[in-house]
Amino acid sequence: MLNNNKIVADSKENFYKMLIYRIESYLSAEKDVLANLCNVAALLYDNLEDINWAGFYLMKDGELVLGPFGGKAACTRIKIGKGVCGSAARDRRTYIVPNVHEFEGHIACDSASNSEIVVPIIKDDVLYGVLDIDSPKFNRFDDIDKIFLEKLVKKLNKYLDWKEVTRI
Ligand code: SME
Repeated sequence: MLNNNKIVADSKENFYKMLIYRIESYLSAEKDVLANLCNVAALLYDNLEDINWAGFYLMKDGELVLGPFGGKAACTRIKIGKGVCGSAARDRRTYIVPNVHEFEGHIACDSASNSEIVVPIIKDDVLYGVLDIDSPKFNRFDDIDKIFLEKLVKKLNKYLDWKEVTRI
C-alpha cells in the first residue's frame, strides 16, 4: 500500500520535494499512463494548499482535451492560443496568472478560480498537453511553484509514454 497521508512540510520547497518523491513512488510502480495521471491529479488536488482544481489537458488532433483532474467538472476542449492553457501550449512556456479576471480570454470553468498556473508538457520537442492548477486565492502561485511543477513535468516525462493518451 502506497503512502496516502497528507504531506506536511516545514517549507514550500520541502513540500514539493516530498510531493514529487511521493508521485515518483506511484509512477515507478505502474506503467499505465491514464492510471498514473489519475493518481498524479489526485495527489496534487489532495495535497496542494488553497487550490480548487488540478489536472491535465492532453493534445488530441490539434487541440487540448480534458484529461484526469481533481475539482469541479471543467470545459472539455481548449483551442491552442485560447485561455491560459491554450496560451501556455502555444508559447510553450509556463504561465503564472495572479488574477485570472485580468487575463484576456481566460476560460472560466469554476467561478471560484482567481489565480492559475499552467505548465506545458513538452518531451523531445513535442507538445503533449498542459498541467493546469487553479486557486481561489489571488496571486497563489510564484516562482517556487513554477520551478517545482516544471520539475514534476520532467519527472512525468521520464516515466510516461504520452502517446498512450494523446493523438498528435
Ligand atoms: N482557466 C483555464 C481553463 C481550464 S480550467 O481552469 C480547468 C484557461 O483559461 O485556459
